Amino acid sequence: MTRSKILSTRPLFPAAREILERHFEVEYWTQARSISRRELLNRVADKDALICLLTEKVDEALLEAAPKLRIVATVSVGHDNIDEAACTQRKVVAVHTPGVLDDTTADFAWTLLMAVARRLLEGDAWMRSGTWPGWDLDQLLGGDVWGKTLGVIGFGRIGRGVARRAQGFQMRVLYNDAVRAPVEVEKELRAEFVDQDLLFRESDFISLHVPLLPGTRHLISRENIRKMKPTAFLINTSRGPVVDEAALAEALEKKIIAGAALDVYEHEPKVHPALVARKDVILSPHIASASVDTRTKMAVMAVENVVAFFEGRRPPNALNADALGLK
Ligand code: DGY
Repeated sequence: MTRSKILSTRPLFPAAREILERHFEVEYWTQARSISRRELLNRVADKDALICLLTEKVDEALLEAAPKLRIVATVSVGHDNIDEAACTQRKVVAVHTPGVLDDTTADFAWTLLMAVARRLLEGDAWMRSGTWPGWDLDQLLGGDVWGKTLGVIGFGRIGRGVARRAQGFQMRVLYNDAVRAPVEVEKELRAEFVDQDLLFRESDFISLHVPLLPGTRHLISRENIRKMKPTAFLINTSRGPVVDEAALAEALEKKIIAGAALDVYEHEPKVHPALVARKDVILSPHIASASVDTRTKMAVMAVENVVAFFEGRRPPNALNADALGLK
C-alpha cells in the first residue's frame, strides 16, 4: 500500500518522528535556517500533509501550490499563520496544538514578570561588566510583586494559569475577556471580572493572553497605555501585534509606565529599535513554551492528529472539523 507523503518543515523530536515514520513517507526540512517560502511551495507540491510552524503561512497561494494536501498541522497553539477559511474551502483540515503548553507558558509569563519588576537583567549585566562596587542601599530598586494587582487580559487556559500562580503572591487578580468565566472559576482563582478600562487603570502588572484577531491588534495602543499607572509593567507572551511597539517605546520614554517584558513582537524577528535600546524592557525570543517536555508534546500532538486523520478518525485538535463535517 502506498504511504501518504508528509512534509515537515522541522526535523521535530525523536518521539514525534518515530510515530510519523511508522505511518508515512516523510520529508523533513533539516537545514539550520528556516525553510524559505519558495522552498516550502516547491516541497509541499506533491504532499498529502504538511506539518509546519507558526512562522509559515498557510494561505491561498500555498493551498494552490499543493493540490493533494488534505491536512495541515501547525506545531503551535496560535494559528494566525493559517487561513482557516481558505483551508475549509479547499477541504483541507487545519490542526493546532492547544492545551499542552498552557502551564509552561504561564510559568514563563511569571518569569518575565518577576524579572522585569526586580530588574534582574540589569543586575546580571552589571555583574558581568565587572563594575559592581558592592552592596548599596539604593541600587536597582524595583517594584514589589507580592500583594499587588495583576490584570490578565484574555482569560483562557494560559491566562487562568497566570492568575492561579498569583495566589501564591497574595495578589488581587483582575481579568478581562470577551466572555466572562464561570463563577466557580472566578472563585477558585479569586479573580474579578472587570472592564478593560478599570483593568488598565488599577493593575500593577498587565499580562496579555489574547489570540491575534482584528479586535486585539494594537489592543495596547497609545490611548490604553496612557490609562496605566506610572509604576505598572506590561508582559506580553501572546502575539506581538497585540502591542503597538512604537506606542510602547514612546510611553516608556515618557515614563508613562515603568517597564515591559516581551516574548513576542509586532514584526518578528525584528524588534522596534527604540525598544532594543531600553533598559526597562526585557526582550526574549518567543520562548514561552520552550521547555523540552512541552515542545516535544506539541510535536507529538501535531503528528497524532495527522495519524488520526489518515486512519479515518476525526483529528482531535482540528480547527475546522465542524465546518468540514468531520465525524
Ligand atoms: C504558540 O504555540 O502559539 C506559541 O506562540 C509558541 O509556542
